[in-house]
Amino acid sequence: MRSVSLIAAFSCALFLSAAGAHAADDGRPPEARYDTSGKATRDGIGKRYFGREIAQVMGHQGAGWLERPERQEEERTDLLLKELALRPGEHVADIGAGSGYFSWRMAKIVGEAGRVYATDIQQEMLDILMRQMRKQGADKIVQPILGTVRDCGLRAASVDTIILVDVYHECDFPYEMARSMVAALKPGGRLVLVEYRGEDPRVPIKPLHKMTEAQVRKEMAVHPVTFERNIASLPRQHILIFRKNDREQKPSK
Ligand SMILES: C[S@@+](CC[C@H](N)C(=O)[O-])C[C@H]1O[C@@H](n2cnc3c(N)ncnc32)[C@H](O)[C@@H]1O
Repeated sequence: MRSVSLIAAFSCALFLSAAGAHAADDGRPPEARYDTSGKATRDGIGKRYFGREIAQVMGHQGAGWLERPERQEEERTDLLLKELALRPGEHVADIGAGSGYFSWRMAKIVGEAGRVYATDIQQEMLDILMRQMRKQGADKIVQPILGTVRDCGLRAASVDTIILVDVYHECDFPYEMARSMVAALKPGGRLVLVEYRGEDPRVPIKPLHKMTEAQVRKEMAVHPVTFERNIASLPRQHILIFRKNDREQKPSK
């Protein structure tokens, strides 16, 4: 009996090491990963993932706030773009692109040989975004995509870099979204999450709209990506970079 359980433990350990960085993905169906037993707090949807209450989605009525002139100084968006180190010709996805604040700025860097896929779940945001892209002369490079709350809407293995600026914390289905984004990355591609720093009480943003590095890393550990680094040079946000593992993604159950 004892030898049988030893063999089982040994094969389990072998399986986990072969599965690599997403060994924590235990194959449960997505809906079993969420806790919906609690009440919604003021800015949340009452659904919890790894102990974190998911924030409400920012409506398209808030698009003006994304374009506020003081944003550049408050968030050092210029520095964020520099830290991304995008290359001409890169295919980039701006998930939850909103009004397109970053889409046209990234389009200027990747140029005509590149692509920026600007996705959002609100058609109204994409309408605002495309007006802005035309104004900035970036509409040939930026392609709008209407995603769903579970699926980013990108083709498998099609992009080099995926960036979400202040988006992941408000994804209603973070497990499914992350899974679809990782599938859309080419092997070795980057998944970049920019979130207001949850560790820092001085960052003047509602708590559910901030995330700690530890929380993001916990949530990403169930996906076939490897944490690369946290760039901490911005005044309010951290830039968390994950890289897709070279090995093929395990099909989900
Ligand atoms: C706070 S805004 C940030 C917009 C933009 N990234 C920026 O920094 O200017 C969040 C955006 O994410 C979008 N969003 C929320 N959940 C999403 C999802 N699952 N997939 C794609 N977009 C989503 C919202 O519709 C909204 O436009």
